[in-house]
Amino acid sequence: MRPDFQSWLTGIQVRFERVLNELLPRADVAPQRLHEAMRYAVMDGGKRVRPLLAFAAGELVGADVERVNMVAAAVELIHAYSLVHDDMPCMDNDVLRRGKPTCHVQYDEATALLVGDSLQALAYQLLSEHRLNDDAERQLEMIKLLGVASGSRGMAGGQAVDLASVGKALTLPELEYMHICKTGALIRASILLGAQCGSGRKGNPLDANQIDRLDHFGKVVGLAFQVVDDVLDCEADTATLGKTAGKDADSGKPTYVSLLGIQGARDMALQLHREALDTLAQFGDAAMRLREMADFIVLRKF
Ligand code: IPE
Ligand code: IPE
Ligand code: MG
Ligand code: MG
Ligand code: MG
Repeated sequence: MRPDFQSWLTGIQVRFERVLNELLPRADVAPQRLHEAMRYAVMDGGKRVRPLLAFAAGELVGADVERVNMVAAAVELIHAYSLVHDDMPCMDNDVLRRGKPTCHVQYDEATALLVGDSLQALAYQLLSEHRLNDDAERQLEMIKLLGVASGSRGMAGGQAVDLASVGKALTLPELEYMHICKTGALIRASILLGAQCGSGRKGNPLDANQIDRLDHFGKVVGLAFQVVDDVLDCEADTATLGKTAGKDADSGKPTYVSLLGIQGARDMALQLHREALDTLAQFGDAAMRLREMADFIVLRKF
């Protein structure tokens, strides 16, 4: 019998902490301070939503868990780097992250910058030094996918739009574009990468139509994730979030809440949730964890 969602989630979170711990450079190896700061930014915190999505997509295709470990680690390292930079004074200027002082507060700005650089580099190192797919060309495509999702047409590009939009009233399509890039792209990549570990020696590769469906699911839950982040920013408290609540309104950021109001943003998240579940209909029971993850993303309280 399959474990219930909470046991599955906790089991992966616990196991994945060990994976990250093994993959990160040891803090007693030079340059010690940088390695210590990398560990500070990655370990002991975070919901690990992107790795969980990679594992859920891996289960859809019966992928080799060792392979999924590597793509899950790569996306989480990119995500952790994006948070370290997002919190810096030149970006959102935040002092609290995952219930701890932000990386540049605990260390210093130069170290935080280098932590981001090093985590990003480590992500690509992992994807190129471990076997992810029996077909080397497919593996190169997987590495490219993460590059596009993280770069100027994905996360970093969305962050640029976010910073350029402070104090402005965006239209709904502009806001959607920004959210799909800054947060959605990496979430979408996590799902596709998890699923692409499934072809070759182990697992059942998806056909082109199924990959399109999975990609659409990723797009929709990725957007829903940021809509909920916007709602929580003004509804939840700092202790629950582990980051400073109310920052978006204080900083003049356009969000789904500033555009649609709290109820409008909540309705939007529910609408995206329904769309995400509809997209998975044809996958049947194999997509159970992905469905549960869509519920988790929309119903979460932090
Ligand atoms: C926060 O992401 C930043 C966004 C992209 C909205 P998470 O809510 O996944 O942060 P952690 O990893 O759990 O701390
Ligand atoms: C961050 O969006 C998206 C990233 C790429 C890190 P936010 O600025 O809303 O994330 P939080 O609220 O600080 O976690
Ligand atoms: Mg930001
Ligand atoms: Mg921020
Ligand atoms: Mg936010």
